[in-house]
Amino acid sequence: MDNEQTGHRKGNSTEPLVEIQSILKALNILPGQTVLDVGCGNGYMAKEFSRLVTETGKVHGLDRSPQAIETLEKETQDTNICPIEADITQRTALQAASVDLIYLSTVFHVFSEEQKDGFVREANRLLKPKGKLALVEIEKKDTPFGPPRSKRVSPAEMQQSISMKWLSLTRVGEHFYMQVFEKNE
Ligand SMILES: C[S@@+](CC[C@H](N)C(=O)[O-])C[C@H]1O[C@@H](n2cnc3c(N)ncnc32)[C@H](O)[C@@H]1O
Repeated sequence: MDNEQTGHRKGNSTEPLVEIQSILKALNILPGQTVLDVGCGNGYMAKEFSRLVTETGKVHGLDRSPQAIETLEKETQDTNICPIEADITQRTALQAASVDLIYLSTVFHVFSEEQKDGFVREANRLLKPKGKLALVEIEKKDTPFGPPRSKRVSPAEMQQSISMKWLSLTRVGEHFYMQVFEKNE
């Protein structure tokens, strides 16, 4: 989980570290929904979301890393997963008010303060009314792996950056938490 600003690296995944079923239970994803997995990396969560939204729904797997997107494209042909190479801190080509859930796992702490503002702006543009934003982050403590403590984001710091209605805080792994927000009306 280092070198994250420059892009996805193989082996840089939280897949073995987080409790996937706890995350999915808390998110209550429904058939027909559209989910955006931001900084999707190897796309392991995009594939979980794909199953839950069923063929009537859609998952955008977005990452700024061309290698991550190229690999995901090969793996998800003819599925409801649409890989997109883009920077979420800028305006993307995705349609406004088209997404039910935006999900980020260990991506938010990578952003500079300016990038956080850009991300919140784009998330607000993309979410449908009452749409949800879920962010998984590594706790701001000494852990056997992960980015330097100074780069990590506590739940309270995240709440200060996200100008949406706070809904929940859930532990989703020994060293990970998830917060969910709802787009303001
Ligand atoms: C630590 S990895 C996490 C990957 C995956 N979400 C997971 O939990 O395994 C961070 C990912 O965010 C992507 N990323 C970083 N900044 C980004 C940005 N501004 N827009 C889109 N993706 C970004 C990186 O390319 C990388 O794939």
